[in-house]
Amino acid sequence: MTRPTLIALLFASLLLLGGTYTADNFNAKDRRHEPPPTPELMEHDGQQMGADNGAGEGLHYAGEDCSICHTTGGKAGSYVFSIAGTIYEDRFARRPAVGAVVMLEDIVGNVITMTTNSVGNYWTTTPIASNPMAVANHGGATTVLYTTDADGNVTAFADPADSRTWQYKTWISHDDATRHMVTIAPVGGASGTTPYMSCTMHHNMLGSSGASWVSSRPTFANPPTTNISFKKHVLPVLISKCVPCHIPGARLTRAATSTDIDADDPTTVDYSDGKDFTTYGGSTVDSVTKDGFREFVDPEVPELSEALTTTRKRSDGTVEHAGGGFWTEDDADYRLLLQWISEGALDN
Ligand code: HEC
Ligand code: HEC
Repeated sequence: MTRPTLIALLFASLLLLGGTYTADNFNAKDRRHEPPPTPELMEHDGQQMGADNGAGEGLHYAGEDCSICHTTGGKAGSYVFSIAGTIYEDRFARRPAVGAVVMLEDIVGNVITMTTNSVGNYWTTTPIASNPMAVANHGGATTVLYTTDADGNVTAFADPADSRTWQYKTWISHDDATRHMVTIAPVGGASGTTPYMSCTMHHNMLGSSGASWVSSRPTFANPPTTNISFKKHVLPVLISKCVPCHIPGARLTRAATSTDIDADDPTTVDYSDGKDFTTYGGSTVDSVTKDGFREFVDPEVPELSEALTTTRKRSDGTVEHAGGGFWTEDDADYRLLLQWISEGALDN
């Protein structure tokens, strides 16, 4: 390869890895998978992963919602964090992910990174850019956080101190696994005084309110190689990797900006894509009907099953699927699903 080609290639791959955000992909419609900022890129910009780690030991209340106390007027009101939480290696919060990287890119493109300590905790006081035209929506109730006059002209922008206006995309990485926290804040819950990191922060852990998880480890330590059961083997894999996105019922992502409320269909950003992978044959919950996992596998040509091709990591590291890439053909979880499909994809 000639030198100019090499340089051109390097440049192209840097652009590809960059995945920089602009205000336009911070509306509900354009939220989608993007690659996380890489260590190489960060160092290139003179930053180290973990550059935003907060001061202190931070060894207490692992897995709790730190913001209950670490908020203005809270029990730890002298240490107000913009972001804090705990990362585990598994969805059941059994083992902390030590040295995991939490990355945020805010609406103006600032990259904020933290690393987890020996109990999996991370926290920072680095400010997060505010969206002046933010709209908070939680549990279906929409609150417009800026004000307009009778003609619709903005008279006051949203208060940047209100955590519901902080907007960012998030990824967590540990070893060679990366989890995309697709939901963009407004981080606030139902009110400005109940901040949460993002939906995945409180909807994806079992029995833990302030935590998330990331792991490249297979779901089972000793997965069986034949006689795979949907209930005993396949379902745990799907629950660990495909939830919280492909779930039953109406789970719409909140509106986030003025563009969202102006859109034709403002609240219908549904990360489930009409699929419920907590079931074999689909579900109807609150009159929302979704397809089950069986619909996306094909025992005739197992390796061409849509559920597998969509979620496979390509050799160049890219992935089409909005939920990210989960495995290569060598991974135990992938092989387990493939084997179950080859055995007829039974509801067993
Ligand atoms: C139930 C209330 C409560 C919760 C929940 C809580 N903290 Fe704290 N935290 C406190 C209090 C109170 C202090 C102040 C202690 C002092 O004044 O010395 C504190 C102090 C700290 C400090 C500074 C002192 C040190 O240990 O270095 C850090 C860092 C910290 N907390 C991190 C966290 C993280 C991370 C979480 C979430 C995983 C969290 N805290 C959850 C109450 C809480
Ligand atoms: C972070 C959220 C998220 C997670 C986790 C997730 N997905 Fe998805 N998935 C989506 C979204 C959003 C779409 C629709 C957009 C797209 O096709 O990329 C989708 C679409 C799909 C499709 C349809 C693709 C097509 O071309 O129509 C399949 C199949 C699928 N996902 C399988 C899976 C499987 C299997 C898992 C778990 C191993 C999984 N997904 C995990 C968000 C997610």
